[in-house]
Amino acid sequence: MSNASNQPLDGEVYYPDPSIVANANVRDWEALAKFAHDDLEGFWAQRAEELEWFRRWDKVLDDSNKPFYKWFVGGKTNIVHNALDRHLKTWRKNKLALIWESEDGRDHRTYSYFSVNREVNKWANLIKAMGVQKGDRVTIYLPRIPEIVFAMLACAKIGAVHSVVFAGFSVDALQGRIEDSQSKLVITADGSWVNGKIFELKKIVDEAVKRCPSVENIIVVKRTGHEVNIDPARDHWFHALAALPIASGKCPTEPLDAEDPLYILYTSGSTGKPKAILHTHGGYMVGVYTTLKYVFDIKDEDRWWCTADPGWVTGHSYLVYGPMLNGATSFMFEGGPTYPYPNRWWQCVERYGITILYTAPTAIRGLMRFGEAWPNKHDLSSLRLLGSVGEPINPEAWKWYHRVIGKGRCPIMDTWWQTETGMFMITPTPVVPLKPGSGTRPFFGQEAEILDEQGNPVPDGEEGYLVLKRPWPAMLRTIYGDDERYVRQYWSKYPGKYLAGDSARRDKDGYFWIIGRTDDVIKVSGHRLGTAEIESALVSHPAVAEAAAIGLPHEVKGNAIHAFVLLRAGHTGSLELAEELRQHVSQHLGPIAKPDEIKFVDKLPKTRSGKIMRRVLKARALGLPEGDTTTLEE
Ligand code: WTA
Repeated sequence: MSNASNQPLDGEVYYPDPSIVANANVRDWEALAKFAHDDLEGFWAQRAEELEWFRRWDKVLDDSNKPFYKWFVGGKTNIVHNALDRHLKTWRKNKLALIWESEDGRDHRTYSYFSVNREVNKWANLIKAMGVQKGDRVTIYLPRIPEIVFAMLACAKIGAVHSVVFAGFSVDALQGRIEDSQSKLVITADGSWVNGKIFELKKIVDEAVKRCPSVENIIVVKRTGHEVNIDPARDHWFHALAALPIASGKCPTEPLDAEDPLYILYTSGSTGKPKAILHTHGGYMVGVYTTLKYVFDIKDEDRWWCTADPGWVTGHSYLVYGPMLNGATSFMFEGGPTYPYPNRWWQCVERYGITILYTAPTAIRGLMRFGEAWPNKHDLSSLRLLGSVGEPINPEAWKWYHRVIGKGRCPIMDTWWQTETGMFMITPTPVVPLKPGSGTRPFFGQEAEILDEQGNPVPDGEEGYLVLKRPWPAMLRTIYGDDERYVRQYWSKYPGKYLAGDSARRDKDGYFWIIGRTDDVIKVSGHRLGTAEIESALVSHPAVAEAAAIGLPHEVKGNAIHAFVLLRAGHTGSLELAEELRQHVSQHLGPIAKPDEIKFVDKLPKTRSGKIMRRVLKARALGLPEGDTTTLEE
């Protein structure tokens, strides 16, 4: 066994406990890493063989048309067959698939795999009855309730492509995503509960679809029970539909090509509107199944809790698909960590005997502020593994998480990955020595590199652009409807290498340390937002001529949005106007995108070609050198 490497590692290191190593799904890290390195296709074929296929693939990896890679070519499957149907033939039929608790703690629901299947069939029958066919897009805009899982699986089951929009986004974001995807059907709820208050999802949908002629039907789940507008020609209560004969009975799981699309998920990138990342059934299925099994060591006796919202990729891969592909028991919580009190999560861990907790650094930092007394009130002894995702975790937060939540027993899997990668890319497994703040090394079969501007590898310890060198099964296949942008964005700076958009450094032990985004993406509380989206929300206000948004370090959120606004003639900056603009962004784009601060300026630094230099704004705000300003127009 060579998991704890023979040479002592540099810096502060947490070595794995032998008892964890002895029972881990990955025992011999080095051997698996070597196998995957030497025989990438063989490694992934073996993983794929653990799942069921209607027809076996002819070729594991087709790289004849780079960067349009294909995986498991010729194979026929459906991710739902493996996430659900497969388990119904075994004892897992009666196993709990999903445990759910409402924000106020008054509602608890549990679903066995059998029951999830029943619900998914209902949803699939209804979605079909709405005229949705294979390949059609369906927009899902739902709170963190079991129905979002059922609706997603139902789409996949019939070969429709789901496009989930995070229910913390608002009108403009939703409208843009519906429009771009040309969805015929939108699935939403009357509202969601956010810290005891109703967030008006249906109202937002009504507003958004006014400008989306593709939408023929809207299915509405009753969640809050307050009154909402129902247009009888277009809107249907789910509970009314579900009572119709058409909803009952089995809906067959469509046999699909491995490369058939499973979903699109919009995410922010460099300038411009959010792009629709496309994932497929076969490769994505094998990738998320394998990474969850190896990295979080999922076993039948576990109770897994991924706190992410299904509206983000973490929810897609590791709340919905990954756990069910592994036949795991998952917990889903409607609310957030501190409402009504900062012990809300620890109460859940205790109440449901959570064994593995996967969350974001922002949540940990937020909870840290309330002190140890809150978690210490609860029995957290069921926990055996912890996880982190979404942004770099600062060593203090890592250590607090390890000591106070994990009681020093639970290794922390700091998983680096992206909407685009679909699965963990740089990540520990429970048998790997950990360094607080590092995601350790690339997953099996992957190689990462840090490059300078010209594409040369930088020396260990120096910062540069993070790239991935080898294809992986859950990789995005393209940007939906924009192959050219796919190539330009990810594969052009360094041909043949995937550009992650992050800066990072590697230490002499080969451990990677992520620093942050190099593009116009701001990670706010782990949520991925684009400066362009925030700026266009700002300029949609009549007083605003131009705007620039940047992220500045924030103790809890990681980054906070600061906006610089140039007003139109006849308007003057005031505290009231700043507040009005913050509200405006919140209403148009979503509360998550509300700037912390608005500054009125009479000039924005621009390049001679007219591009706003956010880098310069950021440097000025932080009192740092402005760097290369030769292109500055001033
Ligand atoms: C950041 C979320 C440091 C990174 C799964 C990446 C991280 C972006 C980590 C993708 C981590 C994610 N350590 N940074 N463990 N995980 N990131 O698409 O900047 O919402 O490029 O996917 O989050 O964000 P996305």
